[in-house]
Amino acid sequence: MKTDELRESYLAFFESKGCVRRPSDVLMPRGDPTVLFTPAGMNQFKNEFLGVGQLEFTRATTCQKCLRTGDISNVGVTAYHHTFFEMLGNFSFGDYFKREAIQWAWEYLTDKRWLALDGDRLSVTVYLDDDEAYNIWHDEVGLPADRIRRLNEHENFWPAGAPSQGPDGVCGPCSEIFYHPLHGGDEVEIWNLVFTQFNRVGDPPDNLRPLPKQNIDTGMGLERTAAVLQGVASNFEIDSLKPLCLAAGETVGVNYSFDSPQGRPVRRIADHVRAITLCIHEGVSPGSEKESY
Ligand code: SER
Repeated sequence: MKTDELRESYLAFFESKGCVRRPSDVLMPRGDPTVLFTPAGMNQFKNEFLGVGQLEFTRATTCQKCLRTGDISNVGVTAYHHTFFEMLGNFSFGDYFKREAIQWAWEYLTDKRWLALDGDRLSVTVYLDDDEAYNIWHDEVGLPADRIRRLNEHENFWPAGAPSQGPDGVCGPCSEIFYHPLHGGDEVEIWNLVFTQFNRVGDPPDNLRPLPKQNIDTGMGLERTAAVLQGVASNFEIDSLKPLCLAAGETVGVNYSFDSPQGRPVRRIADHVRAITLCIHEGVSPGSEKESY
């Protein structure tokens, strides 16, 4: 499945579940001083999660342009990290919750009419004490216990470490879905389901207050899932990124191949040129401050 087809398939699946298809937000969020770049699909829905939004619907699906600099040193080195990437998301604002989010994720990934991935190659994680999510995966989806790991707040809470370290605000336990590639290699996280059910107020203990309405925020990596579907060992080998690597190699005069010694720097160039192009498109030019830097 081509990357463009995957994007369309995901949005169509969640439309069939009643989600309203919304366009990607801009990469440089307006009116949000807490971030320089849009880091996730949920960013444009912050008000809805807080219960003060104006939208007339309670379910949405998007493919969001994202830019994260936290993993910049991994770009080109690992198979799966980028600065710019696209995040497929489905969102509930006080509407559906864990059961639907988990069951629909499984259906989309494994059903023959959708991605038709082999369920035996998938495993999940849940937050330590999230028995509700564990039981849905185990008893309803039917995943065996050895493919459901319980991890701590640094792995399975969003934002990571929020209970003990903050920031204050909406947060919740999450459940991540991993794929074990056919060609061997490390498992890859393809989808994060966040159960946004708390407002964090101050330091522990008793700092996680249940929200009046429970929300769903999920993020699936477009490029990572395309790599799984295309059976390639790295995101940089998928149909939308390999041509950029080849073009970057041609421009700097090296014959790019994935395993060549120059593979790593050429992938970095391809990633950074893609990110910078999208930034320039939104009016940011190189400079020494904030987004420009
Ligand atoms: N906000 C969560 C994340 O970025 C899920 O979309 O992983």
